[in-house]
Amino acid sequence: MISFFFFFYFFIFLFFDLQVVNGIEIYSMKIDSKVTSRFAHNVITSRAVNRGNVPKEVFFDVELPKTAFITNFSMTIDGVTYPGTIKEKEVAKKQYEKAVSKGQTAGLVKASGRKTEKFTVSVNIAAASKVTFELTYEELLKRQFGKYEMFIKVKPKQLVKDFEIEVNIFEPQGITDLEAEGTFITNDLQNVIQKTFSDKKGHISFKPTLDQQRTCANCSQSLLDGDFIVKYDVKRTTPDNLQIVNGYFVHFFAPTNLPKLPKNVIFVIDISGSMAGREIVQTREALLKILDDIKEDDFFNFILFGSEVRTWRETLIKATPENLDEARKFVQGINTEGMTNLHGGIMRGIDMLNAAHEGNLVPKRSASIIIMLTDGQPNVGISNTEDIQAHVKKAIEGKYPLYNLGFGYGVDYSFLEKMALENKGLARRIYPDSDAALQLQGFYDEVSNPMLTDVELNYPENEISDLTRNSFKHFYDGSEIVVAGRFIDNNQNSLTVDVRGEGANDALSYTTKQDAEQTAKAFQEQEYIFGEYIERLWAYLTIEQLLEKRIAATGEEKENLTAEALDLSLKYKFVTPLTSMVVTKPEENDNQDGIADKPIEVDGDPHFIISVPQKDDAICFNINENPGAVLNLIKDPVTGITINGELIGDKIVNNDAKIQNTYFGKLGIANKHLDLKLTVTPEKITLQNGNEQTGFTWLDSVTLQQEGLTLIINRKKNLVLKMGSGASFVIVLHQVWKKHPLHQDFLGLYILESDKLSEQTHGLLGQFFHPIDFTILEIHPGSDPKKPDATMIVKNNELTVTRGWQKDYRTDPTHGLDVPCWFVHNNGAGLLDGVHTDYIVSSLF
Ligand SMILES: *[C@@H]1O[C@H](CO)[C@@H](O)[C@H](O)[C@H]1NC(C)=O
Ligand SMILES: *[C@@H]1O[C@H](CO)[C@@H](O)[C@H](O)[C@H]1NC(C)=O
Ligand SMILES: *[C@@H]1O[C@H](CO)[C@@H](O)[C@H](O)[C@H]1NC(C)=O
Repeated sequence: MISFFFFFYFFIFLFFDLQVVNGIEIYSMKIDSKVTSRFAHNVITSRAVNRGNVPKEVFFDVELPKTAFITNFSMTIDGVTYPGTIKEKEVAKKQYEKAVSKGQTAGLVKASGRKTEKFTVSVNIAAASKVTFELTYEELLKRQFGKYEMFIKVKPKQLVKDFEIEVNIFEPQGITDLEAEGTFITNDLQNVIQKTFSDKKGHISFKPTLDQQRTCANCSQSLLDGDFIVKYDVKRTTPDNLQIVNGYFVHFFAPTNLPKLPKNVIFVIDISGSMAGREIVQTREALLKILDDIKEDDFFNFILFGSEVRTWRETLIKATPENLDEARKFVQGINTEGMTNLHGGIMRGIDMLNAAHEGNLVPKRSASIIIMLTDGQPNVGISNTEDIQAHVKKAIEGKYPLYNLGFGYGVDYSFLEKMALENKGLARRIYPDSDAALQLQGFYDEVSNPMLTDVELNYPENEISDLTRNSFKHFYDGSEIVVAGRFIDNNQNSLTVDVRGEGANDALSYTTKQDAEQTAKAFQEQEYIFGEYIERLWAYLTIEQLLEKRIAATGEEKENLTAEALDLSLKYKFVTPLTSMVVTKPEENDNQDGIADKPIEVDGDPHFIISVPQKDDAICFNINENPGAVLNLIKDPVTGITINGELIGDKIVNNDAKIQNTYFGKLGIANKHLDLKLTVTPEKITLQNGNEQTGFTWLDSVTLQQEGLTLIINRKKNLVLKMGSGASFVIVLHQVWKKHPLHQDFLGLYILESDKLSEQTHGLLGQFFHPIDFTILEIHPGSDPKKPDATMIVKNNELTVTRGWQKDYRTDPTHGLDVPCWFVHNNGAGLLDGVHTDYIVSSLF
């Protein structure tokens, strides 16, 4: 038995800004985009090879525009393709859990609602093996400020031998003004963008060589990091363009050369205390810019609400140069006060606008809008949001659109969104960044040029079913109205539409007709129509509108809308907030005989290693505490992240040894801001997300991607946890031979990108994330002839340290690599802030 009395250690290692994916070469990345009549079909293909001699994790992560729906994803590993399938969210989750419990690799593709969407998947690839990821997504390009805009996020993170973006556009009306630019494009790269267009076809290609991708000559960093933006417009000889294909139609409506309508704008501005500081400064700045853009025919007024409601003038005022000057003075004097009487502010605005119309104070032919800006939640006057919604809806009666701008993250955005959608407007987030004033001004620009009110596009009721929205309160210059529908008779090949609207001088009213033959003729030079694009465009628009209606709906209506949107998402294979895509890769033969990677026993060295890059050296120390003790490893009050570890001992207590061997048997990672807790033991992994608890074992392969959280479990090896855009944590499972008389399985912890934690980070490990310096003097023989002693000067202390080694299991999980370090005795005394017992905490969380 004595032969088993080896020392055996876990260890902790820190390293700085290393990529987890070293050894993986992405040798090809192609983004292929085909746009037909504003409908974009994009395929991203990424090919990678594992250049190392051990299996490696390959990651594929991309950012997609928030308006896009993923429609397909597949992985091809060593020539075998694993396709994704679309499932209802709950079904997808169950299938996914089943797959992971059977030990298969499963990727979960999720849409995270209306925000920018991140898509990540990873797969374990054998040495010298190749993997191809292929992701497809579709979106309808919207026209704004006279341009259709498509952006492609570019971030390969390494130099890619074969990198290419290719965009092909086909617009039956003819293309004008095709532009392509990149936020990362340097003068040298400008010429690499190839752009041609003639009549209906446009082509863009961007194919930088390896050298052109470098941030500087001989640098290995890629300068491809940012947005690649394509913009264009189409020729318009008539306001209408109708296309009819295979029983579906789409109608694009964008009249030009109409006189602008005068507008009546009420600005309802939150001046409650929480707006103090940068927000009110940015609001003033934005309002001053907006005042510069208001036209003389326009009427306007400001309503401010804190605890009280104040108005600049008693009624709407014409934007004469004198009034604008007065308004500027008023805006400059806006200051914060009190609480948030949102109800009082908005109701005053609506009443004022109603009175202006009733009293004929504003022109009969004019467009009225209300723009409300708030950063908080109603808490004075009527503060029940459902009551406010009801009052506002009743007062506006559909007469003008309400636009709600939610400043920062303290707003009840869903309330603002519901209220805006109920009143023919929309809600927008204003992000509390340095460009907030520009965001506000940008929103105003979108709605500052109304050309028509009460637009209705009417199609013969007995011919069309499943029509998307066809009435619009306002039409703004530079935008476009899109309506799609399905013919009741699949063979019908012509359509008449009746167009109505109210313009500046008179009513707009005409009828126009189109037949399928004309569409076919317009498309005849087009070789690459992707199948049934008008039908997909119709489905896309219908789902988008159902999801939008669902926001303000309740009860049975909401259930019906959900069912309808889900049905279409499944039928047309769109990943929407109601569906997920599941990819399952069957795992090759499962080598399950009870022994797993038996690590070589290590001779007596430390538990903790602190790498000191600027010295190209490391410091190490032990904490000798009894099994059961819980140590605080990391505590960051700013990101809210805490990591604690509980010690376990050997299976049998060795009564002869002065010091018991201990390892980490349980790790707890908590993020208090995200209300997340992850508990890891050598047996199981438990994720507690608010009240929701999910359990995994180390036999699972998991890629879990949720808002603010990525959890990857690499079966029987390690898990990677990333929270927000912050640091990542890797927990390594060390399995010993199951029948080992003494040792048991334990865990190791690595921290990646520790610079993403705040400067206030502390804890047994956290304190070493700040730069640390030391000096070594008087190296001399110690008690062990192979391990010299020395004097270390660190933190103004003079310590006796011993040269030792520690295993780094990052590159070789079985045997580890020997890493030399200076060992600090006595539980790190003199190196640690305080004493080691300061870091003992009462429980894991
Ligand atoms: C999804 O992509 C795979 C791989 O390219 C392809 O075989 C499959 O047909 C695609 N599925 C759909 C529905 O387009
Ligand atoms: C790049 O590397 C080559 C070969 O090592 C060297 O000759 C050249 O001077 C380097 N160029 C720059 C700009 O450092
Ligand atoms: C919901 O759908 C059912 C079944 O189609 C229908 O009978 C019911 O009237 C719908 N309810 C609402 C509120 O739309």
